[in-house]
Amino acid sequence: MRCLVVLLAVLALSQGSNVTRIPLHKGKSLRSTLQDLGLLEDFLKKHQYEFIRKSSNVGKVAQEPLANYLDSQYFGKIYIGTPPQEFTVVFDTGSSDFWVPSLSCNSEACKNHHRFDPTESSTFQNLSKPLLVLYATGIVLGFLGHDTVTVSDLVDPHQTVGLSTQEPGDIFTYSEFDGILGLAYPALASEGSVPVFDNMMNRHLLAQDLFSVYMSRTGQGSMLTLGAIDTSYYVGSLDWVPVTLQKYWQFAVDRITISGVVVACDGGCQAILDTGTSLLAGPTHDILKIQQAIGATRGQYGQFIINCWSLSSMPTIVFEIHGRKYSLPPLAYTIQGQDFCYSGFQENSNSPLWVLGTIFVREYYSVFDRTHNRVGLAKAVY
Ligand SMILES: *[C@@H]1O[C@H](CO)[C@@H](O)[C@H](O)[C@H]1NC(C)=O
Ligand SMILES: *[C@@H]1O[C@H](CO)[C@@H](O)[C@H](O)[C@H]1NC(C)=O
Repeated sequence: MRCLVVLLAVLALSQGSNVTRIPLHKGKSLRSTLQDLGLLEDFLKKHQYEFIRKSSNVGKVAQEPLANYLDSQYFGKIYIGTPPQEFTVVFDTGSSDFWVPSLSCNSEACKNHHRFDPTESSTFQNLSKPLLVLYATGIVLGFLGHDTVTVSDLVDPHQTVGLSTQEPGDIFTYSEFDGILGLAYPALASEGSVPVFDNMMNRHLLAQDLFSVYMSRTGQGSMLTLGAIDTSYYVGSLDWVPVTLQKYWQFAVDRITISGVVVACDGGCQAILDTGTSLLAGPTHDILKIQQAIGATRGQYGQFIINCWSLSSMPTIVFEIHGRKYSLPPLAYTIQGQDFCYSGFQENSNSPLWVLGTIFVREYYSVFDRTHNRVGLAKAVY
């Protein structure tokens, strides 16, 4: 079971049955906008890349701006086929499959989104293999093909592309994105499918086999950087954490504390860094201890409610990872709803894994390094 989109359900519930749709940014890429304004040079000067090993002559660095919906979903534009057809996808480090709706999908979820028309692409090849992806919140069925995929200015040829023919239920119906681009390890991908980042690595498209994610807290300026670490997005040191199991981006957490006292993850636990989930999910008994410590009480739909006025008296929760402390202040781990405030902590009832979603990534610039199989974390700039 892949992770992703725990949050959709939560948001839909916390806002009543009708989900508000906010239009996506249409039109130009960040690069061409900056170019138009004559600012590209300044932007490139400010965004200096840190290279861990000497960059190769062949590989590139690509900046993919991410749009942000309600501070919980982050997605960007990609193109499939020749000539290119445009799609909006979540870049999801909690799964490894890549899919968009196909023209032959008539589910509500597909009709509401851009659909890929294989007959309009001269580079499309049908692999005639089934696509079946299970997420914590939904299922996607279809078939696999090959085509050219363009992310920012990176051209990724002969990429496995999943094309959905059925998206049952309504979990994807109102999503702001058309599909999902998984960035976890190949062990998590559907049979016969080479994940996007693996195809890029195999073809030596990138200056370094890593990508970095900055999620802004102001709604604008979030960025996925492919092939480099962008030092302008963090302050202080970037610390590395070894990946313990190469499926998700999984690593060990030493303990979770409040004022130095262990509140959860006593004796250590395992966590994954998941850009496709908004919340912080963990095993039930640990989550209940944290809810109690922050004064959250169970609400109607299983989410935990807190008094918006008590934020200033709530504790900072500290994740101790590989000998370093990563603190989350109340403002980071709470969600302001219309009538209530919610705890960002959520039960992950059938798994011992902690899932550190966008709440965590907003606070900590995250580097996903496939060469050394490690995750880099640093305090994100505001
Ligand atoms: C939700 O949308 C439906 C159909 O558009 C409408 O009939 C209903 O009144 C809406 N409910 C709320 C709570 O806005
Ligand atoms: C691709 O192959 C699958 C499985 O054989 C089939 O269901 C689908 O209609 C084909 N699609 C195209 C566009 O050729």
